Amino acid sequence: MAKKLAAITGVHGYVPDFVLSNALLEEMVDTTDEWITTRTGIKERRIQKGEGLATSDMGVEAVKGLLEKTGTSLDEVDMVICGTVTGDMAFPDTANIICDKIGIRNAFSFDVNAACSGFLFALTTAAKFVESGTHKKVIVVGADKMSSIIDYTDRTTCVIFGDGAGAVLLEPSEDGYGIQDSILKSNGEGRHYLHQKGGGSLNPASKKSLDEKMHYIYQNGRPVFKAAVSSMSSVVMELIEKHNLTKEDIKWLVPHQANIRIIETVAKMADFPMERVMVNIQKYGNTTAATLPLCLWDYESKMEKGDNIILTAFGGGFTWGATLIKWSI
Ligand code: UT7
Repeated sequence: MAKKLAAITGVHGYVPDFVLSNALLEEMVDTTDEWITTRTGIKERRIQKGEGLATSDMGVEAVKGLLEKTGTSLDEVDMVICGTVTGDMAFPDTANIICDKIGIRNAFSFDVNAACSGFLFALTTAAKFVESGTHKKVIVVGADKMSSIIDYTDRTTCVIFGDGAGAVLLEPSEDGYGIQDSILKSNGEGRHYLHQKGGGSLNPASKKSLDEKMHYIYQNGRPVFKAAVSSMSSVVMELIEKHNLTKEDIKWLVPHQANIRIIETVAKMADFPMERVMVNIQKYGNTTAATLPLCLWDYESKMEKGDNIILTAFGGGFTWGATLIKWSI
């Protein structure tokens, strides 16, 4: 019997309506559309506005659309994993809250915190449950309300990040389609360059943590840029070589959307033409765990069943990795 794989059988996404353009940012901090466009490739990003709304609400929209699109009933879903660094609260997990808000009662659910690699880490974890045969309809969500941890007086971070959510359905496949392999890595030394120090057990919320702005994201951009380029390009090449493929065998490269210059450099280092690289950073910015499923959602109509695609991500931790998928829709 053919090996059981986990196939993506549906993809959906959600971004909030409010558009934070570069022109609006020019009014908020000392920046220009020209700087943001040339240094990052971002023209606008979406921001979740509204009292009482959080990451789970974006996840709910993505998952509801996914269930409708795939004709999946609430009772059939047996597992939900959410990649996020901006969960609604410290605990319980946002995946629990998404399930409750939608009415998914037969699933066990939890979050994966791997920053911008959260979706990739969650997808690989979910795939193992499907491959083992214990779970048959697993939803993987990548969702982040980055605006909740951004200091809108810090021009080095506020121009980069946006809010959004994406979700995929994984089901067993025995015809060779689905997730073929993942190479995932992490290095905790990277924590010094990209982190949110406040709110955990090291620096619980206090007057000091507020005064020192510890609840905002901190990034030292240049070392992160360098590590992102070298880590993503090397892991993509490792995966291609491991499977005896050439770049011609890969239809789409789906990179984390952190900076167009990172995306272009990774593509160049992997000798991959930009026409086959998914890019939507210009309209959403960096949505952390949501970038990969939002790319799949945007490019869904351009992909064909049987296409080999490689997802790659890099983020806080540092965390990074690449996943090879034979597209199954
Ligand atoms: O998703 C998780 C992983 N994250 C990433 O992969 C992000 C990696 N890093 C980056 O994408 C880039 O480093 C940034 C986009 C964050 C920054 O771009 P950069 O080309 O590395 O700029 P820089 O930090 O070296 O700053 C260059 C100059 C500085 O001015 P001085 O010191 O040369 O006078 C900054 O103060 O640009 C200045 N600058 C800005 N100027 C206008 C920084 N942010 C801005 C801004 N507008 N928004």
